[in-house]
Amino acid sequence: MLEPQTVSRPGYRVGLTTLDSEVEVDSLPLEGSIPEWLTGTLLRTGPAKFEVGEQPLRHWFDGLAMLHKFSFGGGRVSYANRFLRSDAYRQAEQGQIAYSEFATDPCRSLFKRAATLFRPQPTDNCNVNLTRLGDEYVAMTETPLPVAFDPETLDALGVAFTPPGTHATAHPHHDPERDELIAYVTHFGPRCEYRIFAQRDRNRQRRIASARVREPAYMHSFALTERYAVLAAFPLVVNPLRLATGLATGARPFIENYEWKPELGTRLLVFDREDGALRGEYAAEPRFAFHHVNAFERGSELVLDLAAYDDASIVDSLYVERLREAPPPPSAYARLLRYRVSLDDPQVEEEELSDVPLELPRIDYRERNGRPYRYVYGAGAHPDGDAPDFLDQLVKLDVEGGEAGAWFEPGSYPGEPVFVPSPEPDRAEDDGVLLSVVLDGRDARSYLLVLDAASLTELGRARVPHHIPFGFHGQYFG
Ligand SMILES: [Fe+2]
Repeated sequence: MLEPQTVSRPGYRVGLTTLDSEVEVDSLPLEGSIPEWLTGTLLRTGPAKFEVGEQPLRHWFDGLAMLHKFSFGGGRVSYANRFLRSDAYRQAEQGQIAYSEFATDPCRSLFKRAATLFRPQPTDNCNVNLTRLGDEYVAMTETPLPVAFDPETLDALGVAFTPPGTHATAHPHHDPERDELIAYVTHFGPRCEYRIFAQRDRNRQRRIASARVREPAYMHSFALTERYAVLAAFPLVVNPLRLATGLATGARPFIENYEWKPELGTRLLVFDREDGALRGEYAAEPRFAFHHVNAFERGSELVLDLAAYDDASIVDSLYVERLREAPPPPSAYARLLRYRVSLDDPQVEEEELSDVPLELPRIDYRERNGRPYRYVYGAGAHPDGDAPDFLDQLVKLDVEGGEAGAWFEPGSYPGEPVFVPSPEPDRAEDDGVLLSVVLDGRDARSYLLVLDAASLTELGRARVPHHIPFGFHGQYFG
């Protein structure tokens, strides 16, 4: 039963409904103005179709991927959107969920004729993040099937490269010195391993480090400092045999094979990026996070900042049906947590840097990733609402001094704020803009919001002719 106010206005729920239309608009209606120096393109991916025929895609992370492109120039904003024509999408056009998604199994009937065993293949539904690899643009999910696409037409161009494992991250880092992507995978097999690797282009890949693991953790992202790669293995873990059985029998989709085992604590694995040696393994309190914010070295100390939860129940909160019923309360969202790891003795100190809800965190990545930094931007939950209302504000936190500001407009639901630095030489860390796709829950349409990153004041907004379902990540390419 919906509350009365949701009858009069769609609210956040429209962000969890399918968008079928694909458009190209030369110039979006613009209120305010955008800086003249902003002349690049914001590309984003996210789920946009939440059912195939009568079958629901069950989790927010399962929706079929759509690419969105906002291009800036001459004071105008153009826009285009297109479903990513992956194999998963083409099968869905035929009415079938053909691949194993995060929390949705494929249609069992597909496998009846071909085999007695149910053998779901991983999906190429790249709805999580995107990046550039050499000259190519690549959309990613957490399977080893990243899909290249044309940034002009948004056409899919097939699998871009093959990560060396079974479960991948959609949050690779970029090493500007070697111009490589650095990422990790979990390899499932008789001997399970975490593997950190570098990908220079479609064909050139090198292994940086490996570590054997008995029950792999679910990890969504990782951290890189100038010298180290850090995996935070939270105690949401899977028995590999249970995973294989769960998928093969159709008993449990991917993530439902994982179990929360707080008694394991969080294990921080610190690898030397140069020779791949395990510098140390450090025990911390049991936590869960999707997103690392940043990490850096300070003498013999390693500082690791995360958008952390007390447990992994947020994964369950993000099933579409459950989200449509009610949003998580503000207290359910992540907080900015700092681990200080003494590398030479097995000691980890933990500090909550702010009690303000923070998800989808972004920093001044190009200048600050792996180095000391001050500001993190993210989506959050406004504390003054009468009732929980999904992610409904943007926040800026100062890791040295707590809260640094927020942007909030009743009835608006902003997504990940992408920081774009201004071209000024010797600029301040927060001299730039934030780009966020915001759902206007009052008229069920979205707009691209441009904020001044220093003050969080609005510079402009460009209205899109439809709603954009809640997405995850995007990148600005100048
Ligand atoms: Fe993510």
